[in-house]
Amino acid sequence: MVQKLIMDQGLFITFEGIDGSGKSTQSEMLAAKLTQLGHKVVKTREPGGSAGAEMIRSLLVSGDTDRWSPETEILLFTAARRDHLEKTVIPALTLGHIVICDRYVDSTRVYQGVARADLRETVDQLHSIIIQKEPDLTFVIDADPENALARGLARDSGEDRFEDFGLSFQKSLRAGFLDLAKSENHRCHLINGMRAREQIADDIAAIAVSHIA
Ligand code: TMP
Repeated sequence: MVQKLIMDQGLFITFEGIDGSGKSTQSEMLAAKLTQLGHKVVKTREPGGSAGAEMIRSLLVSGDTDRWSPETEILLFTAARRDHLEKTVIPALTLGHIVICDRYVDSTRVYQGVARADLRETVDQLHSIIIQKEPDLTFVIDADPENALARGLARDSGEDRFEDFGLSFQKSLRAGFLDLAKSENHRCHLINGMRAREQIADDIAAIAVSHIA
């Protein structure tokens, strides 16, 4: 039987959005804010966040767009996620810490389940067998695909495999995240990311703090 990883302590916060949406900056800003308020915060990311998952990350984010099929991507992202949960997320939540994760399963639901292919059911099935853990609170940062893509590509990070799918791919991601924020509105907050970053950070911090108190 697959070992369960469900854990009810701590607070598991995730950030989601299209490439270049500013979610990484916002997740850093929230981590700094909550640390400043005296909370124990673990800031992490997906794919990655543990030694093994970082190795899988390098396979996924570089190289040609056709390097992996959407089905293979689902398996690789889920393998990375399982390792990340076992090694980083669950141990921190067990200690009652706040875990802030830059991307999580909602990215698989939207990138592999909607934009790469129509595979949402497969993503959900695998999630229910291998992962199960849902975030307590998710910030979906909404951004204009054209600006966000230009921003993402300007970083020239060498991790552009998903940006290389182009503008129509980013538009379909945006639509996917908007749908997801609506259907998962018990935990997802849709944040207008097309504003000054301090203003966005203030809104996010207010929501997060209201979940902690
Ligand atoms: P990052 O640039 O936000 O660190 O994420 C790396 C890329 O991986 C990004 O383009 C989104 C993509 N991705 C997926 O396609 N599926 C997933 O499940 C995750 C976590 C990321």
